[in-house]
Amino acid sequence: TESKPLQWLQQARDGGYAVGAFNVHNDETTQALLLAAEQAQSPVFLQIGRAVVPHMGLRKAWEMTVRNARESDADYVVHLDHGPYDEVLEAIRLGFDSIMYDGAHLPFEENIATTRKVVQLAHEYGIPVEAELGRIPDADEHIEWGSYYTDVDEAERFVAETGVDMLAISAGVMHGTTAGEPQPLAIDLIARIRDVVPVPLVLHGASGVPDAQMHAAIGVGVHKLNADTDLRLAFRGGLEEAFGEGDRQLEYALLRGRDRMAAATVAKMRAYGCAGATAG
Ligand code: G3H
Ligand code: 13P
Ligand code: ZN
Ligand code: NA
Repeated sequence: TESKPLQWLQQARDGGYAVGAFNVHNDETTQALLLAAEQAQSPVFLQIGRAVVPHMGLRKAWEMTVRNARESDADYVVHLDHGPYDEVLEAIRLGFDSIMYDGAHLPFEENIATTRKVVQLAHEYGIPVEAELGRIPDADEHIEWGSYYTDVDEAERFVAETGVDMLAISAGVMHGTTAGEPQPLAIDLIARIRDVVPVPLVLHGASGVPDAQMHAAIGVGVHKLNADTDLRLAFRGGLEEAFGEGDRQLEYALLRGRDRMAAATVAKMRAYGCAGATAG
């Protein structure tokens, strides 16, 4: 039987929507995502990634996420976001439901070889694997967009030779948000990749992408959307609001942040179309 994350993505394909994948940072941000999933009746990928791991370590981040998740009624999976090779091995041992191995910085053939190794190992444990092809820039990088885009022929070969279950592509998204006009998504490119790749596509950097473009991307094969920055900013907005009232207990401010982030997450789940997917 198919793993829960892949069942979700198949349902998202059938239903023409994308499942939201959002990053945890501490107890309150994890709770915000779980509260949103309960409220919106949405599946949710709880992502453990590049911000929280250096802060608390993979094992503690995993324990924190699972402790909060087990106390909720949300339909969740715990996912490793942008994992380096060693961390992928530890995540498999810990029992993650889903992992991303990120070899996008490697030369193409090396990315294929390492990703294939990760896929073989993860599949022995029934864990689906996301990998990345093409580079996703940070908001403050000045780049030539075309050189960062995923190549269609490489995407076809990469998926065929690695056996990866989900493919993260570069098609105009960035990590973080920019004060200027965001780069428009390369919808035609996404469609061409979808035509040669059998697995669901993933778009990272969904913060800052206008809803209309997101919907167009979903229409051409994107069924997992990763967002972090917009939700962090919502959390921060709650903290600033609480402290704007004067000196406040940290707990009071953290709960205000949690509520603001939960509301922002529900809005994302509605925009992605995954709200209501676990109803009934
Ligand atoms: O993708 C991994 C991290 O969540 C980076 O997100 O660009 O919003 O800091 P960020
Ligand atoms: P944003 O911070 O731009 O939403 O990107 C998040 C992400 O891609 C996590 O993997
Ligand atoms: Zn990402
Ligand atoms: Na972004």
